Parts: sequence; C-alpha cells; structure tokens
Amino acid sequence: MRGRSCDLRLLLLFIICSVSVRGASVSGFRICAYNLQNFTPEKASNLQMLHTLTRFLSRYDICLLQHVVDPDGTAIKALVSKLNSASYSYDKHIYKSVSSRALGKSSDNMQQYVFLYRTRTVNITGQHQYTGQSFVRPPFVVQFQSNKTEINQFVLVPLHSDEDQVIQEIDWLYDVFEEVSRKWNNTNVMFLGDFHASCAYVTRANRKNIRLYTNNSFSWMIDEKEDTTVTDTTNCAYDRIVVHGQPFLRAIVPGSGQVNKFKFRRYKPSTEKVLAISSHYPVEVQLKSSAPLLQATPLLILAVIVCFRL
Ligand SMILES: *[C@@H]1O[C@H](CO)[C@@H](O)[C@H](O)[C@H]1NC(C)=O
Ligand SMILES: *[C@@H]1O[C@H](CO)[C@@H](O)[C@H](O)[C@H]1NC(C)=O
Ligand SMILES: *[C@@H]1O[C@H](CO)[C@@H](O)[C@H](O)[C@H]1NC(C)=O
Ligand SMILES: *[C@@H]1O[C@H](CO)[C@@H](O)[C@H](O)[C@H]1NC(C)=O
Repeated sequence: MRGRSCDLRLLLLFIICSVSVRGASVSGFRICAYNLQNFTPEKASNLQMLHTLTRFLSRYDICLLQHVVDPDGTAIKALVSKLNSASYSYDKHIYKSVSSRALGKSSDNMQQYVFLYRTRTVNITGQHQYTGQSFVRPPFVVQFQSNKTEINQFVLVPLHSDEDQVIQEIDWLYDVFEEVSRKWNNTNVMFLGDFHASCAYVTRANRKNIRLYTNNSFSWMIDEKEDTTVTDTTNCAYDRIVVHGQPFLRAIVPGSGQVNKFKFRRYKPSTEKVLAISSHYPVEVQLKSSAPLLQATPLLILAVIVCFRL
C-alpha cells in the first residue's frame, strides 16, 4: 500500500517535472529575422515606434534585422541602448549588435544587415562578408557560439533578396553554404530573412531552379501557407528560415518555426503600431536549451524527499 501510493505521487511529480522541463524550453533560445523597412536614424527618433520595437525584440537571443540604413550607426545605437535600459523581460539581458557594411547597387538604396544578440547567452566566433555571385546585398555571414543551446556552434546566413533576381539569389545561397561551411568546418547553417520566397516572385514551378528546395538536406521552417505580411491586402510567405545539418535540425524545438504576429497575452499592439515599424512580421525559430536534465534535477530530488516522508 505504502509503496503504491508513493509510486503514484512520484508519477505525478514526474509529470509536473516533465511539464516544467517543457516550460523551460518554451522560454528557451529564440532566433528571429525581421525586415525593418528602412530603419534610419530619423525612424529611430520616433520614440513610440522604438518602444514597440524594443518590446518585440526583447523576446530574442539573436535577431537579424534587415533593411537598416544607418551609415553612422546612430539608429542601431539608439535601439540597443533602449533594449538595454528597458525592463520588459523577466531576465534582464544585455544586447550588442554587429553590422555589415552598406550593401547595394545604387547609392540611393544601400542597406545593412544587423545581428542583435544577448551577450550573456551567445558569442560571435566568426564573421564573413560573402563576395562571390552577384547578389545585390550579399550575405554578411556570422558564426555564433552558445552554451545555452544543444548545437553550440552555428552559422547564420542572412538574405534580403533583390526583387529583380529573387530566384537566382535564393539559389546562390547554396554557394554561400559551400563557402562558409568549408571556411569554418561547420555544416550547421541557418539561412534567414526576407527572401521574397512567395507569391509572384517564386512560384511552385520556380522551385526546381532553387537548390535549397531541390536538395532535401535543407529544411524550410516557415511554411509556404504562412503570411509574413501585416496588411490584409497581401498574403505571402516572403520571410523564411531554412536550416541545414541534422545536428542543427535536432537542436530545434519541433514546430517552433513561426511568424510572430505579436499575439502576446498581455501586450497586443494595434496594427498601426506594428505598421509604424514595418509591413513585415518577424519570423522565428526556437532552439532547445542545452541542459534540460539539470533544470529537472531539483524536482527529482523533491520527488524523492516527498516519497520518503510518506
Ligand atoms: C564568450 O567568449 C568569452 C571568451 O572568448 C568567454 O569568456 C565567454 O564566457 C563567452 N560567452 C558565452 C556566452 O559563451
Ligand atoms: C562555454 O563553454 C566554453 C567551453 O567549455 C567555455 O570556454 C565558455 O566560457 C563557456 N561560456 C559560458 C558562458 O559558460
Ligand atoms: C571538421 O568537423 C568534423 C565534424 O565536426 C570533425 O570530425 C573534423 O575533425 C573537423 N575537421 C577539421 C579539419 O577540423
Ligand atoms: C545536397 O547538399 C549536400 C550538403 O549537405 C551535398 O553534400 C549533396 O551533394 C547535395 N546533393 C545534391 C544532389 O546536390
């Protein structure tokens, strides 16, 4: 009798325990890609916009920002300092940023890729500006390391594709993959950004010309049926996340690839506020945290104590 009730209680505690482990991984390591549509010092001086943006970004360990037009770095400096001064998240995090140079083919449309990252959870271990192929905004590739994730060391390849050569540019990401995976001996590579990979730019028939589609070593985390645009008039999965590498895939929380439509429970910004930032939503994916067993240990000990007291 005694043993049996003990077993039942233990079972219950194991359930609580596994739920709390899941809870821990839900608040785990998140990566996002967000097209900020002309993020300039002037735009960053709009304090309400900056406030909303900061609330969105404080959810992520790493976020790739695209279409940043900030030659002297003042806009990103304002954003990072707002992120670091805010107490939006439960854990207070310190963010840093790393930016590419201004990229583009005409002087009136030069854009930067910017990675924001939390200094306490992730380190940069390599940077590389790709120069092969004729991208309008060639990927600025960064290798990250984080003890908080199962994967530890991984490579992020950004792309904000040019509307006139979308199919070629997405296809060329395979060439970028070959170069950077060789350079760092790391095939755990994630591609992310506004690829324009949908609607009129990329049809189903076009996919046979894109190696990231034809080669099944690459997994598309954001489904074609998703809508990454804010307005009701467009319904397109422009923004994507693609992952290469079995170890990397295994390190991702299944089903966590999604469009973040800002449906937070306590904070629901109006469409106007969201559109003040961009007509795109961010896309995100979540990595498994590196030590779920460690987080479960206190509960297992508690289970044993409770059992003995019976
Ligand atoms: C980043 O690297 C430095 C040394 O290069 C190390 O001291 C620090 O703990 C690392 N941080 C993380 C988050 O891994
Ligand atoms: C992560 O692990 C590496 C190697 O074990 C270590 O050098 C580094 O300091 C660790 N970083 C953190 C933040 O614990
Ligand atoms: C490259 O990585 C593989 C797998 O991680 C490893 O077995 C191999 O020793 C590495 N090669 C070099 C040259 O570092
Ligand atoms: C697909 O990509 C992998 C890289 O993981 C490469 O080794 C393989 O040769 C590619 N397959 C084809 C058919 O190109």
